[in-house]
Amino acid sequence: MGTGKYIVIDPATGKLDRRIFSEQGIYDDEIQRIFGRAWLMIGHESLVPAPDDFFHTYMGEDPVILTRDGQGRLHALLNMCRHRGNRVVRCDDGSAKRFMCTYHGWTYRNNGSLEHVPGESEAYYDALDKASLGLIEARVETYAGIVFATWAKDAPSLEAYLGNARWYLDTVFNRRDGGMQALGPMKWLEPVNWKTLVDNCSDNYHVPTSHLSSAQVQTRWLGRPRLSHEDQFASPNKHAFVNGHSVTFRDADDNTPRYMHGMSKETVRLFQEYHEATMPEVERRLGTFRARRVQLANHSIFPNGILGLRLALPRGPLKTEFWHFVLLEQDAPEEIKHAIRVGSQANNGAAGMFEQDDVDNWRQVTAASTSRFARRHPQDLSMGLRHAGPHPDYPGLVSERYISENNQRLFYSRWEAFMNAQSWAQIPLDPITARFEGTATMRGSAGSPLP
Ligand code: FES
Ligand SMILES: [Fe+2]
Repeated sequence: MGTGKYIVIDPATGKLDRRIFSEQGIYDDEIQRIFGRAWLMIGHESLVPAPDDFFHTYMGEDPVILTRDGQGRLHALLNMCRHRGNRVVRCDDGSAKRFMCTYHGWTYRNNGSLEHVPGESEAYYDALDKASLGLIEARVETYAGIVFATWAKDAPSLEAYLGNARWYLDTVFNRRDGGMQALGPMKWLEPVNWKTLVDNCSDNYHVPTSHLSSAQVQTRWLGRPRLSHEDQFASPNKHAFVNGHSVTFRDADDNTPRYMHGMSKETVRLFQEYHEATMPEVERRLGTFRARRVQLANHSIFPNGILGLRLALPRGPLKTEFWHFVLLEQDAPEEIKHAIRVGSQANNGAAGMFEQDDVDNWRQVTAASTSRFARRHPQDLSMGLRHAGPHPDYPGLVSERYISENNQRLFYSRWEAFMNAQSWAQIPLDPITARFEGTATMRGSAGSPLP
């Protein structure tokens, strides 16, 4: 660093430079080179279900309006009036054909085009080039209802960006014909660097220690299996890494449903019945192997999508805005939706038990990096070095053990690749090699309307 080239992780030793968690200059480069370039999760189609609906979101620090225009097409529009820069939308969501700036009244259609300027003839002498003054628009693509956007004209397709990671993500997001619905978000601020929570998504090592007391409460009251290091070390679960995305998954053919917050001794029967009732549909959509053998667990989508539909929005090097959505299968029984909603909020979200355990760690990791003395000493991410590689059944780079820091090392290597690239042409992408059995597509179900 300092020469314009970022070398922050030593792949041979796993030593990581702590300055990346606190320095303003590095953060400024991240906003341009990562958040200005990557495909970013910005919302879900169910948040804008009807023509003329809109939802206010962010790409990095930039406010963006996700709209569905009168023809049903999605747009991601920078919330900045082209005149002097006021926000043209001041609320979280709604339905509107037009957005009027409250400074001088320039008015935009919900596809971004500038429709009306007060005094166009009288004040501007009909000389204003309205066609070039629409709201700045990002590229938008969807995957199974999740909306992504990028500012980079040279970015690859979202399909290529997700690559083989989609093979795993499908097992949650592309499971049902009816798709998913997003509730929320719950939003709050924490004094943590945004990367601390992304790298934690594949940190299975911390679970029995950090979450001991929360897990004991759940074991006692909800019947959750006891958490222990022994179980974690012996776990047949795996994690894999593709293009900066990390996925943890359970490899099991025991006809049990994927573990979700909201399962308890009272509700587990409901989840089991639902799992069995929907399995023929899931097998049709994903093929038998993925339907029966692959259960996605913690995961992250580069750069800042975490644990499903959750966002780590950067707000400076030492601050992150958390957005927590609950994602539900659209046509799941109401009792299951209720259990997942309650379980999700009990674990994650501002008052979630697990979340509070985690945030305390992330605060301290961030705070340590602000010390001029302490940050001379790098983080140690050496666990499982040289114990990952290709796997005959699973795409991506797969760790030998469920507990390792392969994903952290690879996440920070990916970070370096973005920070050092001049354009997308210099950012490597793994080829898509996975066999996508079944009928599920990028758009969810075949025949779903274009975004
Ligand atoms: S700043 Fe929006 S109309 Fe002037
Ligand atoms: Fe955790």
